[in-house]
Amino acid sequence: MTAESDLAFDPWDPAFLADPYPAYAELRERGRVHWFEPTNQWLVPHHADVSALLRERRLGRTYQHRFTHEEFGRTAPTPEHEPFHTLNDHGMLDLEPPDHTRIRRLVSKAFTPRTVERLKPYVEGLAGDLVSALVDAGGGDLLRDVAEPLPVAVIAEMLGIPEPDRAPLRPWSADICGMYELNPSQETAKRAVRASVEFTEYLRELIAHRRARPGDDLISGLIAAHDEDDRLTEQEMISTCVLLLNAGHEATVNSTVNGWAALFQNPGQLAALRADHSLVPSAVEELMRYDTPLQLFERWVLDDIEIDGTVVPRGAEIAMLFGSANHDPAVFTDPARLDLTRADNPHISFGAGIHYCIGAPLARIELAASMRALLERAPTLALAEEPKRTPNFVIRGLEGLAVEV
Ligand code: HEM
Repeated sequence: MTAESDLAFDPWDPAFLADPYPAYAELRERGRVHWFEPTNQWLVPHHADVSALLRERRLGRTYQHRFTHEEFGRTAPTPEHEPFHTLNDHGMLDLEPPDHTRIRRLVSKAFTPRTVERLKPYVEGLAGDLVSALVDAGGGDLLRDVAEPLPVAVIAEMLGIPEPDRAPLRPWSADICGMYELNPSQETAKRAVRASVEFTEYLRELIAHRRARPGDDLISGLIAAHDEDDRLTEQEMISTCVLLLNAGHEATVNSTVNGWAALFQNPGQLAALRADHSLVPSAVEELMRYDTPLQLFERWVLDDIEIDGTVVPRGAEIAMLFGSANHDPAVFTDPARLDLTRADNPHISFGAGIHYCIGAPLARIELAASMRALLERAPTLALAEEPKRTPNFVIRGLEGLAVEV
């Protein structure tokens, strides 16, 4: 165990954010678990540990199914932040069994590889149209013009959000996701609360509307589960929709632009991909490993757990460093090298265990579709200006990606 004072890990330092991977290498070399005072968390950087902890039932995304805030040595959220917490805490990602199992079962039918495979022609058609428009314009912002509209439209379509209503989805999501960064500010919390209130109100109305006129979308399916079988509360339904809408695009948007930024920085690999489009599936996996879109996930310690001789006690919080796990040389040969042909690639970007990303099959289809469309329709795509990173650590992304064709 090491103390934070001498760690290179500094998630607020722009130099660290520009390239966190060397600092991770140092963390891994120095030990399997590190106390990090600024966030009161135990950092875990190795692939084997992250992989095991994601499956560990002594840890939880929440503790509220077993303990009150007081029993767990934590303070309840302040009342003015309640709208955010109510929304967040009833989505499946922040529930543990049996509630998690009940809701995940209801939603998972819509996300099986076979169901999602049926969406492929629609996703590919949309990716093609978006890329053609970019090409016709002579270039643009890959984030705004392709990476963002594709997954937003797909998840909105699945849920049945009418097209004219979709504009606020991205800003609501961005404001809510601000709370997933480390030590969010009061201002971030205020924005998240406002977005939570507006998003909830919008969905309440949409649900009432859909109840009167059901369609074949996911919201209508959830309403049926609520009304007929009493398998879902109204709050769970709203929270699940928000989770699906937010998780359904945030990481995909960032994976797309992080991925293309990495390709532009590695022209040899980009040329190999352009010469052989059959590399697309392994390229999608490798780019998600190489520059991991979601860098850190947290778990509460529900019962004491020992990591490499250090007892991490009940009530503590563990921060699993996905970006570090994905660069662990114990698992990946030459991890700092982008290798689009990497065959053995057990990256952890979609998580593991009971919360394993339900949208992974869909994300893979979306990422492959936009990559193929860009390779085929924009074969000379090039960077128009150096991209700027967002100041966020957990959700790793770019402010934009200016390209020319
Ligand atoms: C590249 C894109 C994506 C990445 C990297 C990603 C990553 C992840 C990760 C790491 C988790 C687990 C978090 C944890 O264990 O604490 C997760 C859960 C989840 N993801 Fe994704 N995701 C992506 C795309 C999607 C898409 C397209 C959807 C669409 C619906 C989605 C929906 C969800 C949901 C609902 C959960 C919660 C599952 C549960 O708690 O059982 N994700 N995702």
